[in-house]
Amino acid sequence: MLNEQEFIEMLKNIDQQHLLDGLDSVDDETKKAFFDDLRLMDSSYPGGLKQYVANAKILLAESKAGKNPFNGYTPTQPDCVDLTAFNDDYFACEKLGLENIDKLAVVLVAGGLGERLGYPGIKLDIPVEVIDNTSYLAYYASVLLAMESRTGKAVPFVIMVSRDTNAGTLKALETNGYFGLNPNQVYILKQELVPAIKDNEGHIALDAPAKVAAKPHGHGDIHMLLHSSGLANKLKSQGIKYLSFIQDTNGQVFNAMFAALGASIKEGYDFNSIGVNRVPGEAVGALCKLINGDKEMTLNVEYNVLDPLLKATISPDGDVANEKGFSLFPGNINFLLIAMEPYCNILDKTKGIIAEFVNPKYSDDSRTSFKKPTRLETMMQDLPKLFTDGQKVGVTVFDRVWCFSADKNNIKDAAAKAKAGSPPESAATAESDFFWANRQKLSYAGMQVDEADEVEILGIPHTPGPRVLLRPSFALGIVDVNQRINGGSIAGDATLILEGDIYLNNVTISSGSGLVIKACQGAKVTVDNLQVDNDGYKQIMLSSDDLQSDNCPDYLKIRGYKMQAVDVAEYVFDKPGEYNI
Ligand code: UTP
Repeated sequence: MLNEQEFIEMLKNIDQQHLLDGLDSVDDETKKAFFDDLRLMDSSYPGGLKQYVANAKILLAESKAGKNPFNGYTPTQPDCVDLTAFNDDYFACEKLGLENIDKLAVVLVAGGLGERLGYPGIKLDIPVEVIDNTSYLAYYASVLLAMESRTGKAVPFVIMVSRDTNAGTLKALETNGYFGLNPNQVYILKQELVPAIKDNEGHIALDAPAKVAAKPHGHGDIHMLLHSSGLANKLKSQGIKYLSFIQDTNGQVFNAMFAALGASIKEGYDFNSIGVNRVPGEAVGALCKLINGDKEMTLNVEYNVLDPLLKATISPDGDVANEKGFSLFPGNINFLLIAMEPYCNILDKTKGIIAEFVNPKYSDDSRTSFKKPTRLETMMQDLPKLFTDGQKVGVTVFDRVWCFSADKNNIKDAAAKAKAGSPPESAATAESDFFWANRQKLSYAGMQVDEADEVEILGIPHTPGPRVLLRPSFALGIVDVNQRINGGSIAGDATLILEGDIYLNNVTISSGSGLVIKACQGAKVTVDNLQVDNDGYKQIMLSSDDLQSDNCPDYLKIRGYKMQAVDVAEYVFDKPGEYNI
């Protein structure tokens, strides 16, 4: 390790002399923290700050020249499995996936700040629904436990955190007994920040004298960390054949997980991107097969690169709608399934350092100055840029709301998006979509489901009910729901929560009513011909005083309402045995 003087010399040699200006004006503690910070960034980036600055200069020069990274390539449709409808293909894939869940590990990237949402805590702590207040982390853990109860094998759960989310994530796990998971199956990997860059010469930015401006390097760090920690190879040696990459606030992800796994296995995909119908111009990347002579690659083309690429090739009007009203290519939702064997080979070859990019916001036409410091970033979906040995890359397309509805935007921005015709991706819509997906499962199983009317809360339209929570212990796949539900109906603003080994035969839940059945492990409950008629749960809008009040929890403020149990039929079976209602 370089001593302080050598480290200072290194900084000077890479043209970062300015970082040392003003050090005389700060106390020893600040100075020490400054060097500790810089050293951490130096040691956690492959090749150190020297390499980071060198990479930044190259990428900034390319960006200044307006170089299109896909120059010469023509976008075409990717190899694609269409699972947008619940048909034989869908069920065959889901069945195959469920038969192979013992070979799956889940990788959750959760290092993001969530600046757009502006939630004060970690996003994983936010409840996906506020009837039972299940946090995203608790929900993800409950799926892993349900998978384990089928196979007897604990599902490895890798969570990537950052400086911003590490403490909060550990606290959530520890104060909740790891949500029933064994701490040994949970692997925390921590990504470090990278220095912000203030100009095209690669000079590192300072927030203040002796305070480096630092920013996240993006979720692509997960590949580097899975390699440098040795975890990818360890999981492979434990028989894991697929890694599923998911993000922090997508409660829909497990609806599609098992069918996507089945599609990967059936098609022999080494890399399977889950895609959705994309709205033209939307700030999500598009999944394309790019062809240039005999070279071809299937990957995510970011939205800022897509429009010029389309204009230069197949669509003179750029990123516009096709005849069905959607973008020409499926949208990327950062939900990936990667086969372990080729993945480990690539990590061993590349150390998991994947294509970096830079996206400075210029303040002048000559592209010489930035509005604010920028930084190099990586995205986990860029892994196929490293593929060279004929790895098979494909896309599996699902109905959008079935597989993706995240909580990314604060109320004001979500309302503006809704107004502009884009998905709002707010807490309220993520929650109502979570219920919607469960309603689809009931409908498919033959229950009559009457939708509630759409409402608008603080400018965000969504359909609140019927609110259906089918816990993973009740059903993992849609095929499981089919075996457990026989006839019956649920209407309007009703609520239904099912947890455990439960069978409903001809159960009728009238609009506004609430039915909750919870069966512990080993309890089997059969419900016959039940008619539920009560006052259920009520949705109560928050007043403007509530929205300002310190007493109102932030997870309610980001959705604009709360739920209150008024009169609910609740059956709890906490001892093993067979029961009838
Ligand atoms: P998002 O696009 O939601 O970005 O990241 P974000 O940084 O969390 O939120 P904004 O942009 O500040 O509003 C997609 C996923 O990638 C993770 C996030 O936690 C989320 O699960 N992520 C993002 C990381 O793990 N590390 C990063 O550096 C950035």
